[in-house]
Amino acid sequence: MPRPPPDAQRWSLRVDPPWSLEPWREAAREALLRDVAPPQLDWIEGSEVSLLDAPAVQQAPMPADAAAPSVPRDFLDLAATCLCHRDPQRLALLYRLLWRITHGERSVLTNPADADVLRANGLAQAVRRDTHKMKAFVRFREVPGQPDAFIAWFEPEHHIVDRVAPFFARRFTGMRWAILTPSRSVAWDGQALAFGPGARREDAPAEDALESLWQTYYANIFNPARLNTRMMMQEMPAKYWRHLPEAQLLPQLVRDAGDRVQEMHDRPAQAPQRRIPLRRDAASAPPDTGSLQTLRQQASACRQCPLWETATQAVFGQGPADARVMVIGEQPGDTEDLRGQPFAGPAGQLLDRALAELGIDRATLYLTNAVKHFHHERRGKIRLHKRPESRHIQACRPWLMGEIARVRPQVIVCLGATAAASVFGRDFNLTHDRGRWHTLEDGTRGYATVHPAWVLRQGDDARREDAYRLFRDDLARLLQKGDGGD
Ligand code: URA
Repeated sequence: MPRPPPDAQRWSLRVDPPWSLEPWREAAREALLRDVAPPQLDWIEGSEVSLLDAPAVQQAPMPADAAAPSVPRDFLDLAATCLCHRDPQRLALLYRLLWRITHGERSVLTNPADADVLRANGLAQAVRRDTHKMKAFVRFREVPGQPDAFIAWFEPEHHIVDRVAPFFARRFTGMRWAILTPSRSVAWDGQALAFGPGARREDAPAEDALESLWQTYYANIFNPARLNTRMMMQEMPAKYWRHLPEAQLLPQLVRDAGDRVQEMHDRPAQAPQRRIPLRRDAASAPPDTGSLQTLRQQASACRQCPLWETATQAVFGQGPADARVMVIGEQPGDTEDLRGQPFAGPAGQLLDRALAELGIDRATLYLTNAVKHFHHERRGKIRLHKRPESRHIQACRPWLMGEIARVRPQVIVCLGATAAASVFGRDFNLTHDRGRWHTLEDGTRGYATVHPAWVLRQGDDARREDAYRLFRDDLARLLQKGDGGD
């Protein structure tokens, strides 16, 4: 890049707020239009003014033939991410890249060995990592005296609050919450995001009732045999620990891990269980304390498998807390994920049709799913349903078992193989055992039938109608007297 003479006029450019693409883009456009080369520019972050500032670039002469250049989309994406970095040089770095792109090096971004590209990619990667950590490690605490209001304290490394806030708004749509950080805060009132200045640690509540339940849950799911301290430190660096309720347990859990693994080795193997057990074991059920509402809040913050990252929200069960019948499906679909309610989409409508034909009031049932987050694959604008994997089902079992423990239904109906495996065990064979009553260890009666989505997937009308009748007739067992349905 040719250097301007040492005595070339200098100009200043202000970007406020300095992490936002629009003001940077507007400032860079003004400089490009006036053909001001990168070394002539002083970039200023925010609104502070100094007497020593060079004149604003808007005062530079505009060439008669000035025309706004077109800028590739991938550069703008890179710039939007880089701007969130705290490095004060990023504004100038991005303008240097933009200058090169518009002065004969249009595909410079495709050269990863170029020093500017390398630096910009490094900044963007650091911002992405920080974003990921914030999504994973923000922990909301209930505001004392305001049961449905939550505050979290977090210290991001970079200017990522604006970038991450929409994620939390989608995820915790139904809650009122605020995230405080030292340099910026954001609040959600259920309708809109509002940004404000930074705060102090003391402004966020220190502890709440959810904390000890979360700790109990974490201690239960911590598997000492899978402990890999190096990986754990990489994924969960110590600087985040002070904000995580579970972190207080970690030193002790890590210290005890060796002994616990030895104990597991020494324990005699257990004979395989012949009866179909309802496994409300300690390893998978949070304690029976706390209401369904508390459990719902805990589940909405669950990060025990990666599904939370791409789902809109956790879809928890719905229905009376003392329902006689619990119906368990596989996982929320597209509609359920957006609405936050189980069985709200096409499969739910088919279930509604069958219930209406049988004269069963949906409002009397507790409807839930084995997996609480929507597992899907994105194809363009479409989100394609994917079957949950065994790790997703395992990670969600504590929530399902927690719901069963609190609702204590007399009858459980599992829709499809995933729900059946979660309740009756992995060996459950839907083809063989469909529609047959089973008594679970604690006396609860239950059976499994096909999933309504399977009915909808049948190739032609006749097969669909047959499948529907089979599904409805299985549900009709709920009406049988003396067979678990009374
Ligand atoms: N399928 C399910 O299993 N559950 C739902 O909530 C919706 C579709």
